[in-house]
Amino acid sequence: MSNNKDSNQKNIVLEDEKDLVLDHDYDGIQELNHPLPGWWSGIWALSFIFCIPYFMYYVLMDGPTLRETYNKDMEEMQKIIEAEAANTANFDIEVYNKYVATDSAKELGHTVFVENCAACHLEDGGGDIGPNLTDDFWINIKEFKPENFYKFVVHGNEDMGMPAWGDILSKEDIMAVTSHVMNLHGTTPAKAKEPQGEKIIE
Ligand code: HEC
Repeated sequence: MSNNKDSNQKNIVLEDEKDLVLDHDYDGIQELNHPLPGWWSGIWALSFIFCIPYFMYYVLMDGPTLRETYNKDMEEMQKIIEAEAANTANFDIEVYNKYVATDSAKELGHTVFVENCAACHLEDGGGDIGPNLTDDFWINIKEFKPENFYKFVVHGNEDMGMPAWGDILSKEDIMAVTSHVMNLHGTTPAKAKEPQGEKIIE
């Protein structure tokens, strides 16, 4: 049994707590008024001090509202997106040649093609919803050059069902898949879709 209680189960107030007892007594229940812990009072005092300049800046002076902060962040993000899109649209043959010669680009080109393009062009490029990519006939490509393939993949032809991959894939992805598509040319697919467009390779 607790030694704070006497044989009649009445509360005993310890000697050093006497001055903490509040002067009310409910059917023998008494209350001690302990001070708040120092860390608690400290945080309270700091938050009170913090709120003075905060209130002055955001409410009384012209500190930005939540909406203004949001709009500014969105503008900055828009700029980053536009810069990224401009970078993707910009084709540099030297950067391209250097990049697609690497083993990692070859592997990436295959992965990107299987994950994003095979649904319409089939994994071996034989063509299904999209045209056959292995033959000499092309609808959108006028000359068999990397920049033509690259630009077409970036912009697509959405009216005809070819997505604009510049909005979806990274520059590296598009360079790698461009090279992969060009390497499909001249291979023999399991099931070749009939030729579409002009014969651009003699
Ligand atoms: C939703 C189906 C679809 C997907 C997915 C798709 N394509 Fe296409 N693609 C098409 C269609 C449809 C065309 C033909 C567009 C036209 O008639 O102008 C096309 C055309 C092309 C052409 C030009 C062919 C030509 O004869 O002009 C290339 C190159 C090409 N796609 C590459 C890709 C690559 C690379 C990917 C993946 C990153 C891809 N496509 C994903 C449907 C698709």
